[in-house]
Amino acid sequence: MPASRPTRLVVLVSGAGTNLQAVIDACADPAYGATVVAVGADRDGIEGLARAERAGIPTFVRRVGDFTSRGHWDLTLTDTVGAFEPDLIVLAGFMKLVGTPFLERFTAKVVNTHPALCPSFPGTSGPADALAYGVKVTGATLFVVDEGVDTGPIIAQTVVEVADDDDVESLHERIKTAERAMLVDSVGRIAREGMTVFGRQVRFG
Ligand code: GRF
Repeated sequence: MPASRPTRLVVLVSGAGTNLQAVIDACADPAYGATVVAVGADRDGIEGLARAERAGIPTFVRRVGDFTSRGHWDLTLTDTVGAFEPDLIVLAGFMKLVGTPFLERFTAKVVNTHPALCPSFPGTSGPADALAYGVKVTGATLFVVDEGVDTGPIIAQTVVEVADDDDVESLHERIKTAERAMLVDSVGRIAREGMTVFGRQVRFG
């Protein structure tokens, strides 16, 4: 990616958007090397969209239920994101799987953050599943999105200890603190250094 201009990020969210906020805040420093050009969501009325609006970032919503098929939704999402000419697409708490057309258009440019240490505990209840299993450490994983559920090549991971008195909420909040730092650090490195993917091996630069 060229270093001469900020890396263009499109961020997709479904909820509170604290990971998005961390990226927006980091982008305020020109030395970070990236700018959020749009924020998209699969639902209305979420704090993630409000955060983008407060920051003056264009937003869009594409709800699966408004389309005749999942495939049509995916194609529209692909075109909408593509119109912003992103260098990198960050799924930050986006609670939908993107489809093949999306991944083919943006090959190796889509990254997702998951609140568990992949390959453990994929899916939508990573913190709860880790707690139920009784693991002593868990964390978060940033990966390059592929066709599977939280199966893509790993960019970065961060480790969080599980406390004896943790419940799902307290554990997930501690994971999210570490997750935001990992996301900001990794997206910045991708923006400034680039990223190469060889099979399952991911390297900055
Ligand atoms: C994050 O832990 C993300 O990994 C998970 O949902 C959470 C989203 O948090 N899928 P936020 O919306 O960024 O606050």
